[in-house]
Parts: sequence; structure tokens; C-alpha cells
Amino acid sequence: MTATPSLDIAGFEIAHTGPDTPAGRYLRRFWLPVAMLDDVAPGRAKPLHVLNEGFTYYRGGSGDPYLVGFYCAHRSTQMSTGWVEGEELRCFYHGWKYTGMGQCVEQPAEEDAFAAKVRIEGYPVRAYLGFVYAYLGTGEPPPFPRVRALEGEGHLEGRSFVRHSNYWNGLENACDQVHINFAHRNSRYHASGVIREIPQIDAEETAYGIVRDVLFSDGKRRIAHTLMPVGSLISTWDRQAGWVQHLSYRIPIDDASHISFTADLIPLAGDALAQWKAAREERSAQLAALAPYDAVVRGALDGSINLHELDRADIVNVQDDVALAAQPPVGSRPSDRLGRSDIQIIILRRIYARELRALAAGQPLTEWRIPDDLAGTGGA
Ligand code: FES
Ligand SMILES: [Fe+2]
Repeated sequence: MTATPSLDIAGFEIAHTGPDTPAGRYLRRFWLPVAMLDDVAPGRAKPLHVLNEGFTYYRGGSGDPYLVGFYCAHRSTQMSTGWVEGEELRCFYHGWKYTGMGQCVEQPAEEDAFAAKVRIEGYPVRAYLGFVYAYLGTGEPPPFPRVRALEGEGHLEGRSFVRHSNYWNGLENACDQVHINFAHRNSRYHASGVIREIPQIDAEETAYGIVRDVLFSDGKRRIAHTLMPVGSLISTWDRQAGWVQHLSYRIPIDDASHISFTADLIPLAGDALAQWKAAREERSAQLAALAPYDAVVRGALDGSINLHELDRADIVNVQDDVALAAQPPVGSRPSDRLGRSDIQIIILRRIYARELRALAAGQPLTEWRIPDDLAGTGGA
């Protein structure tokens, strides 16, 4: 049995992710998804908040994504209110223009030599699997973390949604097998077969993060993965497509909310895919006609809505969010009483404590690598 480290094992706070916090500095050492590519159209910009910091996400006329600082270097108006010109961004207030790496290249009311001395932050970005990944740290970014299980044949379906809880709550939820039997008792997982019993759960640290090995009494297995630092690769159940590769990331917005970025590789084509898309459209239309998601979660928490009588297309997300939003952030709740079934969470906490301690001491960090053949498996 593994001893349970407390979250502040070395005086570090995992819940806080601003630029000057231990976890914030650690997360800035990785490529992280920060937006869906389609969140803005080519030639448009929008403000973006992740890791307790503001940024400007824009796409050039070519469609390429760029991520620069939130404020203009001149007198700090918000860059996203400006104009995209080709691959560059012009400030709304007095027209200073910046490249996608934040270099000022034009100041209409100034001498030519001034612009070369001025820059805002600019970050390496890469579009992949429908997400925009950015490297928010300093120095050379690490190798890009491709997830080949999502690169295969099929239809790639991506989305993002905000959860009103600390990112760590979401990260641990992705490591949590047993909650499926309870929180998702009334959901599509009922048809998947994984909630027929409490399985045997094991987990161990790997070269990419953590593997969770779930064994059912009939010998069937479910394999799920934590991709350090904030990713998860599992096989999830879809009514029409069956078991589907599901990649997700929990990215802090601030200390009280996070974004889930998810991508599913739907292994269908032709008529079957058309039917899948039609069903998805129908679910979207049903959801649009229902009470907003956030209101349902709030209602379940304040007792005005009975969660167990709800019948919604997004019920799995509602169920997760009800559980997570009720949890105070780590560090501000009583000590968790983790058990044997929490082994993946215990390992995740131990890895973070170890890595944050190494970072603070200036020691080398673990270099995580995702094997090309890594995939989740179902278990039904
Ligand atoms: S504040 Fe941006 S150009 Fe003046
Ligand atoms: Fe869940």
C-alpha cells in the first residue's frame, strides 16, 4: 500500500498556477492546448485566459494561429480589440503593429527606429488535432507531444468547455475509475458494461505519466493513461461508434475554473458517420432547448434540481461538474482520506510533488515521452 503524500508535501501548492507559483512554473515547461483552432476565424482575434494570465489568440489571413501578450506595449490597451493585417496584429488604440512573436514592426506616429526596440510577449504555437498548443515558458520548448492514437482513420471531433472548479479537481477526476460506477450510474456508461461491478484497479508511473489498469472479474481489462502533466488518453463509450479514443486536457483558467479540451476519434465513415453527425446535431438541438448547463449544475448543488431525475444529452459532463464544483480546491479542504482505489491519484500527487521539488531546487525534470502505439482500451 502506497503512503499518501499530502499536497503540500514540500510546501508547494498545486492548485495555484500563476506565473510565479510552483505549479504555474512547472506547467509552463510543457506544450499545452490553449484554444480550439476554430475558436476564432482567420483574420480575427480574441482574448484568452489560461494559467492565471491573459493572452491574445489570433489567426492570420492564412489561417495560422498566433499567441501574443494581452496588452499593447504602448499604453496597455487590449490587443484583441485590434485588427489582424496579414499575419500581424495592429493595436486598436494608436495603431502599433506586432508580429505573431510579439515584435513591434510599425508605429504610425513614431520614428522608424523605435519599433525595433519594442515587443510584447509572443509564444511558439502549433495547431494539432483541432487544438492550438502553445509553449508559455521561456527558452526552448520540449519536443512536441504527439498523440498518434488520435491521428488514425476516422472523424476527429473536438470541443472545449469550462468547468467551475480548480484544474486539479478535473485532473484527479480523470484518474478516478470508481466514480464512473456512481456519478455516471445513470448515463451512457450504463450501456457500456463498465459499471457492472467495481473492478480491480492498479496504476503505475510510466515514461509518459501513469497507466491505469482496470481488471474485471471476467478477465476483461480497461487501460487508461495520464499524459503528464495535464492530459488523459482513454477509450470512452459512444452509443453509435462503440469504444472511441478520447484525448483530454485540463487547463487552468484561474484558480477557480479550468477548461477541458477534448478530442474523440470516431472510427466511422460514409453513411455511418453521417448518421453519427445527425445524432450529434439532434443532441445539440435538444441541449439548446434545455436550461443552460451551468444553471443545471448550480441547481443540482443548491438543491433546486434533482440530478437523478435529469435526462440530458450532456449528463456525463453535468455529473462530473456537480462532483467537482462541490469540492473545495486542494489545499483549502480537509485532508483527503485516499484509499487503495485512489492509487492513480496518489501516484499523480507524488509525481507532482517530486517534479515541483526538483524545479524549485534547479534539478532536472522528468522528460515525458508518449509512445507511438499508446492507446486506451475499453473493457466491456
Ligand atoms: S495602446 Fe496600443 S498603440 Fe497605443
Ligand atoms: Fe466522469
